[in-house]
Amino acid sequence: MIMLKKSIFASSLLAVTAATLMNAAPGAYAANEVSITIDAKKAGPVINKNIYGQFAEHLGTGVYEGMWVGPESPIPNTKGWRNDVIGALKNMHVPLVRWPGGCFADEYHWRDGIGARDKRPVKMNTNWGNVEENNAVGTHEFFDLVDLLGADAYVNGNLGSGTPQEMAEWVEYLTGDGKSSLAELRRKNGRDKPFKVAFFGIGNEAWGCGGNMTVQHYTSLYNQYASFLKAPKDYMPQFIASGGHDDDTTWTDHLTKHIHEQWNMRFDGISFHYYTVPTGVWEKKGLALGFPEEQWISTLKNTLRMDSLIKNNVAKMDKNDPKKKIAFNVDEWGTWYDVEPGTNPGFLYQQNSLRDALVAALNFNIFHAHAERVRMTNIAQMVNVLQAMILTEKDKMLLTPTYHAFEMYVPFQNATSLPLTIKNNRKYSLGATSIPSISASAARALDGKLYLSLVNTDPNQAVDITIDVAGEKVAGLKGRVLTANAMDAHNTFADPQAVTPVAFNALASGGKVSVKVPAKSVVVVAAE
Ligand code: AHR
Repeated sequence: MIMLKKSIFASSLLAVTAATLMNAAPGAYAANEVSITIDAKKAGPVINKNIYGQFAEHLGTGVYEGMWVGPESPIPNTKGWRNDVIGALKNMHVPLVRWPGGCFADEYHWRDGIGARDKRPVKMNTNWGNVEENNAVGTHEFFDLVDLLGADAYVNGNLGSGTPQEMAEWVEYLTGDGKSSLAELRRKNGRDKPFKVAFFGIGNEAWGCGGNMTVQHYTSLYNQYASFLKAPKDYMPQFIASGGHDDDTTWTDHLTKHIHEQWNMRFDGISFHYYTVPTGVWEKKGLALGFPEEQWISTLKNTLRMDSLIKNNVAKMDKNDPKKKIAFNVDEWGTWYDVEPGTNPGFLYQQNSLRDALVAALNFNIFHAHAERVRMTNIAQMVNVLQAMILTEKDKMLLTPTYHAFEMYVPFQNATSLPLTIKNNRKYSLGATSIPSISASAARALDGKLYLSLVNTDPNQAVDITIDVAGEKVAGLKGRVLTANAMDAHNTFADPQAVTPVAFNALASGGKVSVKVPAKSVVVVAAE
């Protein structure tokens, strides 16, 4: 760790030295050096804070153990939720949590999760490991969680194995403000005021675990279910339709043609799922750690596909919904590896390395670029499942490199994006595979400062970049960098700080700032 700190300090020093040299020899930058120009005067769309949303499914130890230990647990907790995990999640400003699934949502019956906890029915979680689900975490416990985090709630309803009546009654139970028996039942269970449900999902992956439906069949069901979802005006959630995944744009096209316009139905957003699999082959996805460089580049290349997937779907939406009323919400994304050896394959437990932090940052930069349509996303998943922020082991907890990427990007929440151009971007290549070396994004944050994020995908070469902020006087850049010596550097319970951000600063000279972005790194800096 000390070694790491030293080398980053050294690279910052190099940057400062280069800037100082430039004072002596203005215009000495090589013509083919990577350069970034930010237009500080030209505001783009606002980056909705919900782009930084999380996903917590009843899956493995993601909710139970990882976050929920129950009020009687010796592990310090508030209303059953672990204090250490809640504290860490609050530090990364979680804006939104999606719950209870995923595939689990389409087998979840909300009445199982209300009332006295010791009287709740035990079911089998057939999607995820066929383990017992005792329903200890239900509606009220979930809202305790989002209240503790200061986050908004995204509740996913059961369309696959439920009924329109069951879904409508859940929405009424959650949001009813009158004297109906369901609103009274909620009060009897301890919640007087309606819950604020920011988003309500009408089914999940209807093309797969949510019912194996055609888009035509799902669209009819959406119209049927949505017709009965009523809520008081102040508590009306945004309704999200289950959309497509990967290359398939037919769901986006059909839904945007056949819900909103034809029936004038509440339809606020489409859910879209895309997971980054190193090999691209689900049967042998690749390992979370100890992978070859071929899987470093293939993982980053596969994650960069997010950009064209969004573009292709947004093109359909721009045709069918030119007023841009409907959002394109990537409500499941992240890396999906082979599970850690010796763990329950149904629990989707994987380690998380520096590579995951780059995956997160590359996706953030892509989401920022599409902020006009992409107004909410949820990484899968928050704790102990897939690309997690936090891993736990009994009473211990560690923050993953992905956590650090999220925490470094906090200033981008609700910031106004700024146009940026990258010239002479280098290519990082391995064999026949090539990807751009540098990805960047800039925005004006709520604190008034201009922030810049930089990702260097090359695991071997640092990259010199000249940054020009047009329309603003900049004395330097100040922030942090996340990097390490190994591609699969990661935090463990024995060494929880192995990958952690350190200071990264550079001074301006001649109105420009020169930085050396370390190999395999994520940088977030503010203009000073
Ligand atoms: O995140 C794990 C699973 O992936 C979700 O339950 C499902 O929606 C998707 O297939």
